[in-house]
Amino acid sequence: MKVLMLNGSSNMKGNTFCALSYIGEQLQKEGIEYEIFQIGGAPVRDCIGCGRCGESGCVFTDDKVNAFVAKAKEADGFIFGTPVYYAHPSGRVLSFLDRVFYSSGNVFAYKPGASVAVARRAGTTASFDVMNKYFGISQMPVAGTTYWNVIHGMRPGEVESDGEGIQTMRNLAKNMAWMMKCFEKGREAGIALPDTEKTVRTNFIRS
Ligand SMILES: Cc1cc2nc3c(=O)[nH]c(=O)nc-3n(C[C@H](O)[C@H](O)[C@H](O)COP(=O)(O)O)c2cc1C
Repeated sequence: MKVLMLNGSSNMKGNTFCALSYIGEQLQKEGIEYEIFQIGGAPVRDCIGCGRCGESGCVFTDDKVNAFVAKAKEADGFIFGTPVYYAHPSGRVLSFLDRVFYSSGNVFAYKPGASVAVARRAGTTASFDVMNKYFGISQMPVAGTTYWNVIHGMRPGEVESDGEGIQTMRNLAKNMAWMMKCFEKGREAGIALPDTEKTVRTNFIRS
């Protein structure tokens, strides 16, 4: 089984990457593979709501959104990391994930997810809340840990000094691994996926 992670910072070896690496090291100890997918520093387009992505993925092919969706199809769990910018997730991670989720159909459903927010000091739980919104609407069970999924550091590598944050990351990995193993056993035992009702969209229109 494999967890696909997303580094929502343009710093490829910054604190968000370190936080995801702590999780990855623990996942490996639990017998689960991982990959950290880098958004990188190149421009990331925002969703323009054209609605054409249902056919063959996002219409914009000059960044890594469609490549991430291709990898997500093969993954069994997800962890999205973001640095905190002005008390919210990075603009690039939100632009990226809006397009990933809007263009990918059912790719994420029934697979566990978790997010991680990294900051010097404040805005972590607000960012964590925003990131978690992707999971609920996509029928993804959310893995928790022993605090909210946050860790602190300013300059690259400073998260190394946040002992509790690192422990929180390790416990998140253990809980995620446990959930994935339970789901696998459930599949092997023939427990069917939920018989999800087709959504009747009402859009709150009043006449
Ligand atoms: C534009 C910008 C805004 C930031 N806003 C906040 C903030 O609101 N709260 C905070 O504690 N840190 C803030 N920071 C600091 C980063 O969250 C922190 O340096 C983080 O470790 C960066 O992660 P990275 O190394 O993965 O890029 C900000 C940094 C930048 C560049």
